[in-house]
Amino acid sequence: MPAMSPEERREFARDLGGRLPAGFVLGAATSAFQIEGATHEGGRGESVWDAFTTQPGRILDGSTADRATDHFHRTTEDVALLHDLGVDSYRFSFAWPRLQPEGKGALRASGVEFYERLLDQLAAAGIDTMATLFHWDTPNELRGGWFARDTALRFGDFAHAMGERFGDRIGRWVTVNEPATVTLDGYALGVHAPGATRLFNSLPAAHHQLLGHGLSVQALRAAGVQGGIGIVNVHSPVVPATGSEADAAFAELFDLLHNRVFADPVLLGHYPAPPEGFEALFSALAEVDPADLAVISEKLDFYGLNYYAPTKIAAGSGGSATPDGSSDAMASLPFHLAPWPEFPRTGFGWPIAPEFLGTALDELATRYGSLLPPVFITENGASFADAVELDPETGEPHVHDGSRIDYLAAHLDAAVGAVTGGGPASAISLRGYYVWSLLDNWEWAAGFTQRFGLVHVDFDDFTRTPKDSYAWLRLVAESRT
Ligand code: BGC
Repeated sequence: MPAMSPEERREFARDLGGRLPAGFVLGAATSAFQIEGATHEGGRGESVWDAFTTQPGRILDGSTADRATDHFHRTTEDVALLHDLGVDSYRFSFAWPRLQPEGKGALRASGVEFYERLLDQLAAAGIDTMATLFHWDTPNELRGGWFARDTALRFGDFAHAMGERFGDRIGRWVTVNEPATVTLDGYALGVHAPGATRLFNSLPAAHHQLLGHGLSVQALRAAGVQGGIGIVNVHSPVVPATGSEADAAFAELFDLLHNRVFADPVLLGHYPAPPEGFEALFSALAEVDPADLAVISEKLDFYGLNYYAPTKIAAGSGGSATPDGSSDAMASLPFHLAPWPEFPRTGFGWPIAPEFLGTALDELATRYGSLLPPVFITENGASFADAVELDPETGEPHVHDGSRIDYLAAHLDAAVGAVTGGGPASAISLRGYYVWSLLDNWEWAAGFTQRFGLVHVDFDDFTRTPKDSYAWLRLVAESRT
């Protein structure tokens, strides 16, 4: 992906905007815990992430999300930024512990008021919504977290209460965001909250999140919500490091763990068959009640695809690196993530490989065929070390994030190309694309060290400065015909 000049980037934006199908939704995404702050206000309960951040050594820069980007106090400014960006839709998440501090019971008035205000402001700005019910901030009062089946039932109840309260105002509902990341990072490898290192014994957490998803689909429908309902899964096409049989076997295993365990039951109604030789590792999924699978595979109105990077897998243990932090548990596995030197990398070190977004779409089309509902790319973006510079002549602040523009341009182009190019993904109805993220934010275990925003945030005084990528996305939005 060669770097473009500023004029080439503008030309690309105009061309890309002109090629987007009619009605294609452009959006920007955030999540509550990463932006809201105000974690101790309005009687908000503690989430597993609040607890995790207080444990020494868990967060790279030792930060907490107590203030995050201070969005809780700056919704007016942030909605104005969305409006000026010219996007159609804002994907945000409801903070479960702000609405149900203990993970159950009546919705808390202060939480409801906060989101009503936000929704009023978005409506006044003419911005549609995609609201996620669970973006990782599990109420800490729910003992056992997603390892406990009861959490799925509590989540269904939460969804019902939210559907009753907000059912006439949300454009699209996302039940659960990236159950794969919660399972793998949070319960298997311990790099995310709650910090468990159960390796393959983490799979019940996958099943319970998926069950929570299915129960919440039923609950939202029972509450009569007007908006469409979907789930968001992160997909990472997996490639073996070499042509060896061992690499191929572990690549297939990792594809199951990262992609198919989360997509197959939702779209096909069953878990994938374990690769030969690995059956014992998946026994928890083989034993689940078939009635659960019927709930998990409730028909959806759309499928949310998050894509960041592909994964290369090699056999043999090989260090503790995961995409989201270092884990001793990772080092104990019989496979590892192999480096990918031929691709440039983001600030996080993730390979920049837009063609693999096309692969992810091809895999979705091939694996799920006519069972796949319309697709939204619900997150795509990259972190880079962005800095505010003052224009020597005008004194105006600027953030020249050309690398992010090149990343977004290549990925949106690859997605549009894949669904219109005559390949397997041509069968997909791709309805929209959300950039991760509107704002630089608190990036989980990486704290404030990774900036993903279209808008730069000063983490000391919370000043917002739109980056060059913000102006670029606006040009794409304006160039639609
Ligand atoms: C998550 C976001 C996160 C982003 C970048 C996704 O896995 O949904 O919350 O900030 O990736 O790491």
